[in-house]
Amino acid sequence: MLEYRNVHKRFHLEAGFFARVGKFVHAVNGVSLRIGENEIYGLVGESGCGKTTTARLAVRMYPFDTGSIRYTTRDGSVYEIGRLGRRELNYVRTKIKYIFQDPARSLNPRMTILEVMTAGYRYHPSWPGKRQARGEAARILEEVGLKASDLERRPADFSGGQRQRIAIARALINRPELLICDEVVSALDVSIQGQILNLLLRLREEYRLSMLFIAHDLAVVSYVCDRVGVMYRGLLMEEASSHELVANPLHPYTRHLYSSIPKLTGAVAVGAHSAAAGGTLVEAGQPVPTTNEAAAYRASVDDAAGAPSHPATRRTKRFGEEPDPTVHPIPIDADPGMREVSEGHFVSPHFA
Ligand SMILES: Nc1ncnc2c1ncn2[C@@H]1O[C@H](COP(=O)(O)OP(=O)(O)OP(=O)(O)O)[C@@H](O)[C@H]1O
Ligand SMILES: [Mg+2]
Repeated sequence: MLEYRNVHKRFHLEAGFFARVGKFVHAVNGVSLRIGENEIYGLVGESGCGKTTTARLAVRMYPFDTGSIRYTTRDGSVYEIGRLGRRELNYVRTKIKYIFQDPARSLNPRMTILEVMTAGYRYHPSWPGKRQARGEAARILEEVGLKASDLERRPADFSGGQRQRIAIARALINRPELLICDEVVSALDVSIQGQILNLLLRLREEYRLSMLFIAHDLAVVSYVCDRVGVMYRGLLMEEASSHELVANPLHPYTRHLYSSIPKLTGAVAVGAHSAAAGGTLVEAGQPVPTTNEAAAYRASVDDAAGAPSHPATRRTKRFGEEPDPTVHPIPIDADPGMREVSEGHFVSPHFA
């Protein structure tokens, strides 16, 4: 459905900003990945490694530099994201819907929920007219656990979790095929996270959705995702099914991610097993099994052992240390490919 091939994206650092003229941030550094139909693909990695940039390139929020991103719709039409005209791009954006981390800021506070949900839908090729759209909005709102009468209310009347449900409903009304969920539960408190994750899993079945799911929290990712890509400084280091990745992490960076949250590892394993078995580990209202994610991770990074051996990372000394974003981490002519070490389990030769 969605396939990245050796995609690069760098951002210019403007003169004055950091006072480095002609320097670049290499945000995405040769990413190749593929998300299949009805598959949930997770991207993990520390802050600034390029997850959001990778995701945004799929809907061309900004153009990428080299490589290709190809989207194949359910009916088999193929779109090269880098070469689309305005109209085609708008069409693809109805198929791929982006849900943001912060529901408070992504919903216009002056609009009613009905307006929020239908503002974009209005330009959809299958806009059914106002009356019918209202009916659809009401149905979808109920589907995500809110009431039809909520259509007249405004975002400020809702809690964070409810707003995220509204953001999901707004995406669904366009009948998307693929959702990009960028840290969609990170801003929510732990008990609400479980409800939203289970909602997403249910909707995936009902609407046959694929997802690109981005999160810091390894427990969340392995609970929700079928496959997981571990990203470090703009590149995938390892990719495997979430179950395999938990059971058999091979790349030092992946191990580092796990080992820096020792208490999490048990929960992750349980989550992966249970999701693979189709179970619902996180019942509605129950907390997701996790210690506190990003903060705990960052705090623990400092005393994590295990220095990588690749010369490129010697400059940054240890994983977790703030890298200089303008230093290209890997030689540009290096082979960007990963090696398949067992069926469906890929590891990057870098740092290995
Ligand atoms: N519009 C932009 N202009 C310049 N630099 C940018 C821009 N967007 C991202 N970057 C830089 O690109 C790198 C990757 O950022 P990105 O937001 O993709 O990371 P991320 O993995 O999503 O991080 P987080 O987990 O904190 O959301 C960072 O160094 C960031 O500062
Ligand atoms: Mg991000």
